[in-house]
Amino acid sequence: MKQHVTEPDGKLGVLLPGLGAVATTLIAGVEAIKKGLSQPIGSLTQMGNIRLGKPTDNNRPRIKDFIPLANLDDLVFGGWDVYSDNVYEAAVNAKVLEPGLLNAVRAELEAIVPMKAAFDKRYAKNLDGTHVKRADTLYELAQAVMDDIEQFKAKNNCSRLVMVWCGSTEIYFEESSVHASLAQFEEGLRNNDPAIAPSMIYAYAALKMGVPFANGAPNLTVDIPAMVELAYLTNTPIAGKDFKTGQTLMKTILAPGLNARALGVKGWFSTNILGNRDGLVLDDPDNFKTKEVSKLSVLDEIFQPDQNPELYSELYHKVRINYYPPHGDNKESWDNIDIFGWLGYEMQIKINFLCRDSILAAPLVLDLALFMDLSKRAGMSGIQEWLSFYFKSPQTAPELAPEHDIFKQLTKLENTLRYLMGEDLVSHLGLEYYEDLAQPV
Ligand SMILES: NC(=O)c1ccc[n+]([C@@H]2O[C@H](COP(=O)([O-])OP(=O)(O)OC[C@H]3O[C@@H](n4cnc5c(N)ncnc54)[C@H](O)[C@@H]3O)[C@@H](O)[C@H]2O)c1
Repeated sequence: MKQHVTEPDGKLGVLLPGLGAVATTLIAGVEAIKKGLSQPIGSLTQMGNIRLGKPTDNNRPRIKDFIPLANLDDLVFGGWDVYSDNVYEAAVNAKVLEPGLLNAVRAELEAIVPMKAAFDKRYAKNLDGTHVKRADTLYELAQAVMDDIEQFKAKNNCSRLVMVWCGSTEIYFEESSVHASLAQFEEGLRNNDPAIAPSMIYAYAALKMGVPFANGAPNLTVDIPAMVELAYLTNTPIAGKDFKTGQTLMKTILAPGLNARALGVKGWFSTNILGNRDGLVLDDPDNFKTKEVSKLSVLDEIFQPDQNPELYSELYHKVRINYYPPHGDNKESWDNIDIFGWLGYEMQIKINFLCRDSILAAPLVLDLALFMDLSKRAGMSGIQEWLSFYFKSPQTAPELAPEHDIFKQLTKLENTLRYLMGEDLVSHLGLEYYEDLAQPV
């Protein structure tokens, strides 16, 4: 494969529909890192190492030194929002980063002004922005987004582009006939089918132009047959859904451990309070439902109650999100986990995570942008399941169940990188070298 991965020459444009808390925290962070003011903590591509060969080879380079990824100096950011605030103003409003840091990169942030959004209020009732495109049909709306993409690329002299949805969570709806094939979807664009969500307009525009698309929210977006078909047709990578950050990150770290020790779980109650704009949008029950479905999917896959009824068939899993403005982006989550061990004796685990939503999400957007660009340069198209590591509800081929265990997800990601670079895969078997080490005395 190695010879098939082309070099990341030139500028990489990172296009972000939704310039809110997560996107502005990413952009400000990258600009600060470029100036040497801070470190890309939480980013696997920038700070993570990968083992090559046997453990005794002591070869663990940084991932960014092992594979040809775009350099942070070559990233150019752009995006769309329903509010016209530039990225500096939006970052100030989001109240995630301190004024000192924002002022150090103020000029760079003020230069990024959102393009007018493809928006439909039915999909996010609690938003009232007016910085939106007008078009007679959804097809024309998609064309207008494609024009934006083309102009951005030319103006910023980019050699490549990627798109990561950082927009609000849209209302819950299920796949229907308009999503079933590309032909039906394009027909729906011309007929203004109400089941085509705004996020799908961006995704369609990106995929038509061969721009990789990753979805940071739990919306369907590219997780429909029409988009998968388009992605393969235009040789474009897609990935989703829903960044795996606070509570679900903790869940997919802890649950595999309990399962590994064959400990039983009776109940897992998860509640959150958060007060940012994301929380405001999720305060609407239809939008919350989309998030709830994404968050609930995790435990069943890890515990497999069908195969382990004695341990997990009674598992009661509940997730709540409460909008609480005083906490802003500093989400607080509580988990109460009722477990049982030897002879059925009961125990409890309590987790109280005082996290920062966008601080956890920003490095994931960076990694996804860089890895989606890598996928494209490696000639990989369609669903990028190897990036499940980043998502609460990983998109897979319909016949496959998603893998939620974060450690298996990481193994898969690392082995994909080794495979792309022509290195041996790491199986963790160990027998092939252990006998050489443990000589009988
Ligand atoms: N922060 C996290 O830890 C985390 C984790 C998982 C998922 N997410 C998801 O990431 C997304 C972004 O989160 P956030 O905290 O930045 O939210 P946010 O509300 O601060 O930002 C979202 C932005 O998207 C804009 N928007 C909505 N619809 C749009 C459209 N059609 N076109 C263009 N812009 C649009 C909104 O105006 C807003 O500015 C949300 O969907 C959230 O659920 C966040």
